Amino acid sequence: MSTKVIMDVDTGSDDAVAIMCALLSPDIDLVACCSVWGNLPVENTTENTLRVLQALGSDLPVYKGCGDAMVKNLCKNRVPQYDPGVFYDENGKQLKGHYDYLDLPAAKRGPEAMDAPSFYVDYLNHATEPVTLVPVGPLTNLGFALTMDPGIVKNIKEIVIMGGGENLANISNCAEANIWHDPEAAHIVINCGAKVTLVPLDSTHAASTTPEDCEALDRVGTFASRYAATLSRERIAAQHAFTGGRVNSTAVHDALALCAVIDPSVLQDVRHVHCEIGFYDFNDGATIIDHRCIPDEPNCYFAYSADREKLAAMMREILGRGAKDIAGRD
Ligand code: RIB
Ligand code: CA
Repeated sequence: MSTKVIMDVDTGSDDAVAIMCALLSPDIDLVACCSVWGNLPVENTTENTLRVLQALGSDLPVYKGCGDAMVKNLCKNRVPQYDPGVFYDENGKQLKGHYDYLDLPAAKRGPEAMDAPSFYVDYLNHATEPVTLVPVGPLTNLGFALTMDPGIVKNIKEIVIMGGGENLANISNCAEANIWHDPEAAHIVINCGAKVTLVPLDSTHAASTTPEDCEALDRVGTFASRYAATLSRERIAAQHAFTGGRVNSTAVHDALALCAVIDPSVLQDVRHVHCEIGFYDFNDGATIIDHRCIPDEPNCYFAYSADREKLAAMMREILGRGAKDIAGRD
């Protein structure tokens, strides 16, 4: 029995891998993708999402979402984003985790006419069975949708969010990018009343992809597996540069979140906790877990680790289901 899923993506290299896994897994019935700002402007994330779908021969609807946070960027003096610096490879190409456009043929179609928040409200109010939401970018679209109509929770089976971190951060000294980009939206989503599972940096980094995993994906031989290897190698090269050579792997964050819907046992050390979102000063965008001996009522499941070998094997198996070449190419 497959799970109905709506993905919310800021495509994005790791988003692209997650979308391919969702399209190819028999355990996922991908209903739609909603695009959002984050890694890149929403125009780019929308085009990139359409390019990935097109490459796998899918005409799945894409609903374009928000281009900025609900309120954060209207406020002065919020904590600035960490600047990793600018690095180039031996050919003078700038190294990035997310390039402006995925190196795929330009999309031949555009997004649907309806915007993403309106799609959530319309679809979830008329759904005939509960849907699992998998947001792997800033939570702005869902923040607005839940504000427009809190009752849509009735048809949300679970929200599996790539976001947060307790012992790891990336975009600031204490926050993970998706939550940091829109803390107010994250607060709304985590406390909306649906079952919420956070797949934070603690788990995604425990399941990092290595150069050897990329070689294994290449050997699988489908377009999707080879493209996932290409995207992962780009991410590894950027990480290697950003860390002064200390890191030679990459957390394909969004793929873990999607694979957790397929097989929850890929997450490890999952705890039912109370999580607050930081809004001010140095905790802006942080996921703050209540460790008191009598904590507040739990509001989410937080995965502190993950099974690296299991994720690598899942990606090989799922991405191995695709065509040998990009769709539409003879
Ligand atoms: O912090 C990692 C997250 O931020 C991932 O979803 C990545 O795609 C970026 O959106
Ligand atoms: Ca993402």
